[in-house]
Amino acid sequence: MQSTASAPRDVIPAHLLKGQKALVTGANSGIGKATAIALGRAGADVVVNYVTGPEQADEVVAQIESFGVRAAAHQADVSAEDQVVGMVGRMVEEFGTIDILVANAGMQRDAPLTEMTLAQWQKVLDVNLTGQFLCAREASKEFVRRGVVPEVSRSAGKIICMSSVHQVIPWSGHVNYAASKGGVQMMMATLAQELAPKKIRVNAIAPGAIRTPINRDAWDTPEAEDDLLRLIPYDRVGDPEDIAYAAVSLASDLMDYVVGTTLYVDGGMTLFPGFATGG
Ligand code: BGC
Repeated sequence: MQSTASAPRDVIPAHLLKGQKALVTGANSGIGKATAIALGRAGADVVVNYVTGPEQADEVVAQIESFGVRAAAHQADVSAEDQVVGMVGRMVEEFGTIDILVANAGMQRDAPLTEMTLAQWQKVLDVNLTGQFLCAREASKEFVRRGVVPEVSRSAGKIICMSSVHQVIPWSGHVNYAASKGGVQMMMATLAQELAPKKIRVNAIAPGAIRTPINRDAWDTPEAEDDLLRLIPYDRVGDPEDIAYAAVSLASDLMDYVVGTTLYVDGGMTLFPGFATGG
């Protein structure tokens, strides 16, 4: 079994996102949690969205506050329009505005096609795709209202859509999930095109296999991990911090000219590793 590469903690410049207000959805576990913490470490004030598990959200808030920035937990189901409108409204009231949205909340409800219920299909589309649409829409209203504040950032707002390698890799037994991420890709690109003239940058991150609760079965035994590593040329399962650092970079002015891109953070999973020896 590969050992988890422990990510260096001091790689994030503490003032990179100073004065910026970030909302991370699904931020009480996995990639969302690591991203919320990394944004806080970079100096942003952070709203930690969650739908279940308030204690976990409170822990994330406490960790972020320990960096000397503000944090708050907001419960909302991203697929419920009124709840998203309420959450963004409350953030603007409490934090003054929003500069960064990481539309991360996502889920899997796996089943072979012939056994997949309409409810399983719909739920995954609702959370993974419609949820990102609703959050992007509400955040963008505030970005447009406020415009660019040059002392804070060169852009009026940043949206980072959490996609997946499965926006391009078909995935048997997961048609709802793969379809939702394919949708995220085109939604992201379309929003990027629409919003760029308003100085809003929309991009996506496509994680590969990251060690989080969503895919525990794929890495929590040595046999499963060995199987998984066959799909990863870089020969390690990703850590949530691998994604968090990408999100901090994309959200910062270091990446101000990056618009409408998907950043694959996947250890080479999208490089067709099966062809390393075949073809
Ligand atoms: C899925 C994981 C999977 C990974 C690579 C992610 O988007 O949520 O379950 O391990 O893609 O296949």
